[in-house]
Amino acid sequence: MKRVAVLASGFGSNLEAILEAQSRAEIQGKVVLVISDRRDAKALERAEKRGIKNLFIDPRNYDDRENYDLALAEILKSEEVDLVVLAGFMRLLTPYFIKSFPLKIINIHPSLLPSFPGTDGIEQAYAHGVKVSGCTVHFVDEGLDSGPIILQESVPLIQEESIETLKQRIQALEHRLYPIAIDLFCREKLQVNGRRCYIVE
Ligand code: GRF
Repeated sequence: MKRVAVLASGFGSNLEAILEAQSRAEIQGKVVLVISDRRDAKALERAEKRGIKNLFIDPRNYDDRENYDLALAEILKSEEVDLVVLAGFMRLLTPYFIKSFPLKIINIHPSLLPSFPGTDGIEQAYAHGVKVSGCTVHFVDEGLDSGPIILQESVPLIQEESIETLKQRIQALEHRLYPIAIDLFCREKLQVNGRRCYIVE
């Protein structure tokens, strides 16, 4: 059984969806640790409620990003984590950290990458007036939301809908897609060749 760590800074609705899927045995992996860079992250509470080890690692205790990431990497290695899942983790990870876990860090982004990377993916797409948006699960590389795409699904925009309803619809999609991607990883069904990620039988 693969050992999964989830890094989250905020509300943790994706974490919740992952834990729900795990409890329905839809993920052949186990979330063993949740880490946050914010003490008040609801994600920590969600983990605590389910008896999952959870840690607040305070960035203020470290001189710079490298040292923070060094501490993070040490914890993940000591917990023998196989997969690092970013679920609304609001810190940019250093190249050192990413190199420490090659093709073992995944992220979910609320747009159809490579369109609208970075923060506020939904707002950017909405402001641009797109007719279709969606979400993307991808491996993390050293670029901004630029690693090989694992899963991607679209959401057509409804004419004159508000950004709030679009957000809700994209989030519902995220909650469905992320557990599927995590399960594929845990069952070793993902094979990456250059930019392309294949789902194998
Ligand atoms: C999600 O919308 C995800 O796309 C982005 O951060 C948000 C996290 O939301 N990377 P939550 O904390 O999982 O509710």
